[in-house]
Amino acid sequence: MKSFYRDCIWLIILMSLFVNKIYCNDLIKVDKDIDQNEICDSKIAVVFGITGQDGCYLTKLLLNKGYKIYGITRKATASNTQKLFEFIKDVDIELKENLILLNGDITDHSFVSETIRKYMPDEIYNLAAQSSVKTSFEEPLHTLMVDAVGTLNILVSMHSVDQEKKIRFYQASTCEVFGKTKKFPQDELTPFYPRSPYGVAKACAYWSTINYREAYNMYACNGILFNHESPFRGEEFVTRIITKSVSKIKKGEAKYLSLGNLNAKRDWGFAGDYVEAMWLMLQQDKPEDYVIATGEVHSVREFVELAFNEIGIDIIWRGHGVNEVGIDKKTGQKLIYVDPKYFRPTEVDFLIGDPSKAKNQLKWKPRVSFKELVKMMIKNDINLLK
Ligand code: NAP
Ligand code: GDD
Repeated sequence: MKSFYRDCIWLIILMSLFVNKIYCNDLIKVDKDIDQNEICDSKIAVVFGITGQDGCYLTKLLLNKGYKIYGITRKATASNTQKLFEFIKDVDIELKENLILLNGDITDHSFVSETIRKYMPDEIYNLAAQSSVKTSFEEPLHTLMVDAVGTLNILVSMHSVDQEKKIRFYQASTCEVFGKTKKFPQDELTPFYPRSPYGVAKACAYWSTINYREAYNMYACNGILFNHESPFRGEEFVTRIITKSVSKIKKGEAKYLSLGNLNAKRDWGFAGDYVEAMWLMLQQDKPEDYVIATGEVHSVREFVELAFNEIGIDIIWRGHGVNEVGIDKKTGQKLIYVDPKYFRPTEVDFLIGDPSKAKNQLKWKPRVSFKELVKMMIKNDINLLK
């Protein structure tokens, strides 16, 4: 009986080593493995929110540029980091060694300041957020804590730790701050009118960033990014809801799709293009804020139509308001319904950005078109179902 238990324990140890090897690829170090005397002549970046969509793209970009990255996640578990590791699997093995994950929460001031003090990065990217607008109506206090106070935590820590003002800071601001704007397109001078607890919290973080830049001469920038998507987009956002559902319908795993406001219009770009702008903002002579957008606008309805086109279905629309349905033109099958449970208490109807400043000063421009973006996301979701 004793040897049975001993064999079981050995089996568990071997299995956990195996699982660790699969998910962590044996390449990712955790904090305790770091040799503090290791000499590093490459740039050092701390990335808060490394496991999110933008975190994945930014990590790949920075690793390929030779950066050493300390990436912060609240949970460095296999399930939470799998997406990131999968995405960087084709990065050169030696460069990948430069990624170190740390467990931490942006709302924890001692963690944030200790991390900055310990690693003294050249650049800090704050991508961490409760980033769902819909969820922010249900969790307004949590959203404010993470998105506004969390940002302030970094700024306060940088100010107290970095006397020489060497660290450069990127804040993930958002077009949601424009909300119910009357000015189209929106640029760096457009007044704010946020329409959600998320927008309000992000406006606070935006102004905190500017305040620290002006008060203490810090290199701190806001990237006012318009919606950007990719195969790594979170599953709670409308583009991914659409591409996942359309893929399931194609595979016979779903019969229809329910959505909220079909008439909302957004300026949708590709996340891979947008992280380049983040990096560029931190390589300038002086810190400034930039709108990052495509300058093109499309409705949720158009996104749905294009997504169905990708699987060979033409959609026609019948009815109005909550009774509107999207129908397969050929078969007459009802494929899209409107469900008011997805409506927001206050909606942002129309956003379109003017990226002229980024184009002129950063020499940045988006590369992936709206149609290519939809195609890329559908292809990925169909592949995931195989
Ligand atoms: P995302 O996929 O939701 O990623 C955000 C990450 O933040 C999560 O993966 C989460 O990682 C981390 N996080 C959440 N709460 C945290 C906390 N308390 N402490 C530390 N980390 C926390 O967002 P995204 O689409 O990559 O966007 C990146 C940033 O840009 C966000 O700030 C978002 O608000 C902003 N933004 C996004 C867009 C867009 O269209 N995507 C547009 C404008 C601005 P863990 O669960 O691993 O901790
Ligand atoms: N999520 C969701 N689900 N949105 C829907 C749905 C649905 O079923 N149906 C219609 N929509 C509409 C929303 O009402 C909104 O007008 C639009 O689709 C886009 O919604 P999301 O994809 O959830 O994105 P968002 O614009 O609210 O927020 C995202 O972009 C912001 C930048 O504009 C997030 O990534 C934010 O973090 C980011 O700041």
